[in-house]
Order: sequence, then C-alpha cells, then structure tokens
Amino acid sequence: MPTDRKPEFFKGAQLKVGIIGCGYVGLPLALRFAEAGHKVTGFDTDPAKVSLLNAGRSYIDHIRQDKIQQFVNSRHFNATTDFERLKDVDAIVICVPTPLDERREPDLSFVEQTAFSIQPNLQKGQLVVLESTTYPGTTEELVLPILEKSGLRCPVAAGIESDNIPTDFFLAFSPEREDPGNKQYGLAQIPKVVGGTNPPSARAAQALYAQVVAKVVPVSSTRAAEMAKLLENIFRCVNIALVNELKLLASRMNIDIWEVIDAAATKPFGFMPFYPGPGLGGHCIPVDPFYLSWKAREYDFSARFIELAGEINTSMPYHIVDAIADSLNKHKKSLNGAKLLILGVAYKKDVDDLRESPSLKIMQLLQQRGAQLDYNDPYFPQLHKMRHYNFENMKSVPLSAQILGQYDAAIIATDHTSYDYHAIVDASRLVVDTRNATRRVTRNRNRIVAC
Ligand SMILES: NC(=O)c1ccc[n+]([C@@H]2O[C@H](COP(=O)([O-])OP(=O)(O)OC[C@H]3O[C@@H](n4cnc5c(N)ncnc54)[C@H](O)[C@@H]3O)[C@@H](O)[C@H]2O)c1
Repeated sequence: MPTDRKPEFFKGAQLKVGIIGCGYVGLPLALRFAEAGHKVTGFDTDPAKVSLLNAGRSYIDHIRQDKIQQFVNSRHFNATTDFERLKDVDAIVICVPTPLDERREPDLSFVEQTAFSIQPNLQKGQLVVLESTTYPGTTEELVLPILEKSGLRCPVAAGIESDNIPTDFFLAFSPEREDPGNKQYGLAQIPKVVGGTNPPSARAAQALYAQVVAKVVPVSSTRAAEMAKLLENIFRCVNIALVNELKLLASRMNIDIWEVIDAAATKPFGFMPFYPGPGLGGHCIPVDPFYLSWKAREYDFSARFIELAGEINTSMPYHIVDAIADSLNKHKKSLNGAKLLILGVAYKKDVDDLRESPSLKIMQLLQQRGAQLDYNDPYFPQLHKMRHYNFENMKSVPLSAQILGQYDAAIIATDHTSYDYHAIVDASRLVVDTRNATRRVTRNRNRIVAC
C-alpha cells in the first residue's frame, strides 16, 4: 500500500474505498464503487446491518439484493463494525446522518463521532470526503480539527498559489444528491459537486468521483460545496411552501390549484412546477434548510425565507386534520370517535422511508382529537416506535372493498402507484385526498374531498 499518495493516485488504479454509514446514501455509493471495480468496505455502527450486508442481503427496498450478493461474492464489497480497518483504505467517504435535535438545531454528533473514529486510524496520503448534508464550515471547523489531532496536517488554502501546497492527507466535501426511488437519475448520472480544503485535496476528490459519476463539478472550497447542497434543498422547501400557501388561498377562492399549476407549467421557460401536499417529508427538505438558518445566526443574520417556509410547511398537517374534520362534519360525523383509514405512511410515493413523514404527524393529530385509526401501506406491514411517534402495535390492514366500507373516511396521505384509486373511491364512504391522487377517477367523485 503506498503511504504517500498524490492526488493523481485516485485517478486510475483500483482503489480501496471505505464508506462510513451504509444507509440510503452510503450503500448505493458503496455499490457504485464496487461496480466500477474498486474494493469497497462499508463501515457501520449497526452490527445488524453489517451482518445482513455480508450475507448479501439488502435492508433498503430499492437496493437490489442480487447486486449486493454479486459484489460480496466477487470480494469487491464487504462490511464491518471494526473501524481499525480504516487504516487499510485509500479513500474514506462519510455518509452518516445529520438530523435536527429536539430543539430543531443541527445534531452533528454522528459526524463528530465518525471523525473521532477516523482520527486514530488516519494514514498519510488518505483522502477523506464528507458527504453528509450540513452547514457551510462543518468540514473545516468540525472535521478537520479532529482529524488533525492525529498529528497529520491538511492546511486550509485556496487559489493558484496553493496548487501544490504540502498536505499530509486530503480532505474534501461533496454533497450527495441521491433521490431514493428516482428511476431516471441514478447516482452515476447525477453530477457531483466537489470542494477541497486545499487544491491538492480538491484534485484528489475530483479524481475519485470521476471514476464513478458522469460529471464532476469543482467548486473553490468545501464551504461552497456545503452551501450548494443547502441552496438546492432550500429552493425546494421554499417553493413547496409557496405552493402550499397558494393552495390554501385557491381553495378559499374555489379555484383548483392543481389545474392552475398544470396550466402554468405549459410555459416553456421561467417556471418550474412544485406541488402542494400534506407537509414536508424525508430526511432532507424538512431538515437541511434549518442547518443554514442556525448557522446564519452566528453572522447576526436572520434567514427569513427559510423560517417562513418552515412555518407554512409545518402547518400543513394541521390544515389537513381540520379539513378532515370539516368533511366529516358535512356527513354529520364528528372527528372524535370517527373510524379513519390512512392510506400511505411513507413520506412520498413508492418508497420504504418513513422519516419525517407528514402522515405520522397527521395520525398523531387525529388521535389527539379522538379519531380511531388504522392504516395501510404496502411498504410498511407494521409500524414501530420512532423518535417522535409511537404507533408500535399498528399493523397495515389489508385493502378490500369490504374493509374500506367499514371506515367513515379513507385519507390518501401518500399516493403510492400500486393503489387502485377507482376501487378505493368506489368502496369508501368518503375519501380525503391530500395528493390529488384521485384526479383520474371518474365515478363517485362526490365522495372525494381534495385538500
Ligand atoms: N436519504 C437521502 O435521500 C439523502 C439525500 C441526500 C443527502 N442525504 C444526506 O446523507 C447523509 C446520510 O443520510 P442517509 O439517508 O443515508 O442516512 P441513513 O440513516 O439511511 O444512514 C446512515 C447510516 O449511518 C450509520 N451510522 C450512524 N452513525 C454512525 C457512525 N458514527 N459510524 C458509522 N456509521 C454510522 C447508521 O447505522 C446508518 O446505517 C445525511 O447527512 C443526509 O442528510 C440523504
């Protein structure tokens, strides 16, 4: 193993790559490096995941088991909880969670813990890349000082005069843009933004990613790369909030917001459609913008768009619950005691991901107001205790006309493709549709309430 790797080292040779955090981001990345012929080790603190991976099994619905098995068999991929094995790799990519804590402030404990587990194993010439979404400054202010406790140095520098600045190891940030379940854009097709702590680090990281993605987009610093990812997600968060607010107005004015969006989207330039819904979900959009608004306070700056968008998006589940109560009221039923069936608990259609799902918030609010709940979701046969919710004993009820007929209302919270919306409407007394999923249903439209 070379002890003094240059940035060019990461260009051609078969590399040993360590991926820390084998979740929605880390696992596909690990498999992509394996597919490109590199030797990949997945590091995770969860021994159950490590055992499954080494047995060639997947725990993420859209990641194919046979792919994992193939790379385990060909010895291009294995997993471990033993972080000492980081010593043996050329490049280390960090893909651990970056959630918000109870006060909705950045929780960087996973990134910090990971930096501490790399530090005693860090070798000269190794490349470390942080991929976890975070505020600008994390790589240089949090990760770098911990890694430098090893005695090895990676000076922060930019510009042509630092092109060949001596550095003991390489450190970079490259945001992940994975869109779970997106069949059009996979990891290899999505351009990768890369910023280095210094120019050699940037070149090393660009060389690494050029082996597995079609296009690498260099930026001048780790901070610019960190901010680019936040801009992308804030753009989505703010536009979704805008359209959610306009939905509330349109509904009051008796205008169909979905029709309006479809009409506006025919403009061939300068408009991009965003769609309203029951609230934000997933790991990214409800969480990431607050990393920046938190950091902004350090600069005496209030990120008002982010806060406003957060306020509107957070209020959407409350709006949906009020709309359900109103719809039941029209049928001379109170929410208190109503039997309701929630369709879809995943945060978006066709994924097995519950994180920050607005369905869960809606269920909690409905229960607090006395509704009796069941749910169906083909991706979740049962629910478990979560950080903010406890639906521990709930199991997905089967969908049949007879069962649908037993509820006062069915609430479409997630528009999974596998649902037969005609059959759902035909069999239900009332359908509250938060996703415009029933737009093509032609029969019994009087049973549908769009909200
Ligand atoms: N899921 C997405 O669609 C997505 C998209 C873009 C960016 N991101 C970002 O990528 C990062 C990872 O997200 P994810 O969705 O893959 O999370 P995840 O929860 O699916 O996976 C994280 C993995 O890290 C492991 N882990 C936790 N602490 C660890 C530690 N100290 N050492 C080693 N492993 C550890 C967990 O066991 C888990 O397997 C986050 O910063 C997220 O914001 C996620």
